[in-house]
Amino acid sequence: ACSSGAEDDSTLTVCTNVPFEPFEFSEDGEYAGFDIDLMNLLAERLDQSVEVVEISFDSISSGEALNAGTCDIAAAGLSITEERQAAMGMSQAYYRADQALVVPAGSDVATLDDLDGLQVAVQSGSTGEAYANDNAEQYGYEVVAFESMGDIASALTAGSVQASIADLATWNEMIETATDLALVQTIETAEHYGFAVQKDDTELLDEVNAMLDEIFADGTYAELYEQWIGE
Ligand code: ARG
Repeated sequence: ACSSGAEDDSTLTVCTNVPFEPFEFSEDGEYAGFDIDLMNLLAERLDQSVEVVEISFDSISSGEALNAGTCDIAAAGLSITEERQAAMGMSQAYYRADQALVVPAGSDVATLDDLDGLQVAVQSGSTGEAYANDNAEQYGYEVVAFESMGDIASALTAGSVQASIADLATWNEMIETATDLALVQTIETAEHYGFAVQKDDTELLDEVNAMLDEIFADGTYAELYEQWIGE
């Protein structure tokens, strides 16, 4: 792979951004999650080992990190959009996602209609940010962008913002431990996650699509889905 990252051929360098449970998170210095398991399967197929590169989500979603050669592939709960398909090579879809509105527990905010004059936290470079920006005028809130989902959770807990819009599955998982937060509204955006490679790396793109085809067909995907996402 002439267009792969700085690493040698025995390493698959994977750009991601944590925390983003259940897709990627770090625990005792180890990375884990649905995306990480899928990248381990890809690496196995390529006879490589995974090396995780933690980087801002913004530099992943813009295509900047990949196209600068920072990593071979991005696995980051990355929603497929036309803009991203133009900037990078994007795989077939592997997960159907929506957004959600989260507030501090006990807040009076129950829906988007209650956000007038409030500050809404989003992750920089995310589809949640795009949704929030597109609807800010209608609902009268101000959008505040944060680097990571961890920073958003802290800001909500500290009360420096009054709400957040980000991916539903991740919020569902995060509020299990962050019990001072509550998920009040699902926002159906019908997104699909895909993996991203450098724009011209059709070789790796073919491999990741073939890996997904294989695990959709042989039950491995269903097993991992059940393990990480459930239902
Ligand atoms: N799905 C959303 C997007 O693509 C958010 C993904 C955030 N991912 C992460 N690892 N923090 O914009």
